[in-house]
Amino acid sequence: MKILSIETSCDESAIAIIDYKSTADIKILSNIVISQIDIHKEFGGVHPSIAKREHNKNLPLVLIQALEQANLLKEAKVQIPEAKLTLIKELFEKDAALQENIIKILSQISIPDIDRISVTIGPGLPPALWTGVNFAKALAILWHKEIVGVNHMEGHVVASLLEYKDEKSLKLNTPNYPALALLISGGHTEIVRITKDAYNIIGETLDDAVGEAFDKVARQLGLQYPGGPEISKLAEYARRTQIVVRNEFRLPRPMLNSGDLNFSFSGLKTAVATAVKKAEKMDEQVRLEIALEFENSATDVIVRKCEQAIYENNIKSLIVGGGVSANQNIRTALIGLSENEGIDLYLPQSGLSTDNALMIAVTSALHKPMTLEEIVARSNYKISEVK
Ligand code: KG4
Ligand code: ZN
Repeated sequence: MKILSIETSCDESAIAIIDYKSTADIKILSNIVISQIDIHKEFGGVHPSIAKREHNKNLPLVLIQALEQANLLKEAKVQIPEAKLTLIKELFEKDAALQENIIKILSQISIPDIDRISVTIGPGLPPALWTGVNFAKALAILWHKEIVGVNHMEGHVVASLLEYKDEKSLKLNTPNYPALALLISGGHTEIVRITKDAYNIIGETLDDAVGEAFDKVARQLGLQYPGGPEISKLAEYARRTQIVVRNEFRLPRPMLNSGDLNFSFSGLKTAVATAVKKAEKMDEQVRLEIALEFENSATDVIVRKCEQAIYENNIKSLIVGGGVSANQNIRTALIGLSENEGIDLYLPQSGLSTDNALMIAVTSALHKPMTLEEIVARSNYKISEVK
């Protein structure tokens, strides 16, 4: 089954095409991700309306590129039937520019040899999600293809279970159940208990996501967006050179003794603000100490909560996903934890920790087609609602 998938939940415009035969045989026909990071950098974070504008601009180009790379692009003069044209125009009623652009592009290519369209329907930023959803619907209507809406967090779980067989092919591993997913990104921090047929959220953040905390702390230290990699670089250097963190820059380990599996990172952000005020000036030494202490604090809390969840739920495998799983200190600590607990560990392979459409394509292969009415953006779509 050939699947074309679209991901626009945050600041990546991505389209992938796969040929899915079984979990053991998945061919990557194309996998394109256009990151908007350079644009959002100027604003210090992701602005939904700008993300939407960029998705609108990127998607038609990414589509052509993805089809071309997959050898599925055939240029032709296509007369779009009036009834379909009306439906597509309705979808993009509020977006005259995109409407025109899409109709123009779609009337220049013939229907590709694809069996299914899939798209991220949530969670995510509503304006960003809607762009991908409407784009996917337009393709499904015009090309008369079945469509599947995918939960972005389930996508991250699947991404971590994917293993490259070679550059162009993948297999999807099946974990031993019950499994635990630790999903850590810019928008989410969740601990999910996974059995063969259900996702159960057993812990989550009460305020900021861990990636968001990395980004906000980075901003306080005068570092660029996205802050995760920047903080991580400084902390690694501080650790390697054995920098000692002065008392005034020590930070709390929030929620460590809360008894439950929830997180809270907004207090940590405030504690960093207080520490920054204590510093006479923001120099490299202060940056190094705070970055190290912040990364250690986030790592401690994450690892201890996972340890508790594993113990309480008789967990057999740990699956770690989301952008923050690229963090080396957190990875190393989780490798240690899984070895101590004697459980399997799944970490995303290269290119699969940050947002991409490949994970959405593979996830959609595990689900049944939906009706067009069911394909709507759901910004708060929980993984526990996935059927
Ligand atoms: O999953 P993702 O690409 O997008 C969302 O769905 O949010 O995650 C992006 C987040 C950002 O907050 C970024 O700062 C963080 O992941 N991140 C990191 C690292 N690389 C990316 N955080 C800590 N350490 C890293 N090395
Ligand atoms: Zn994500």
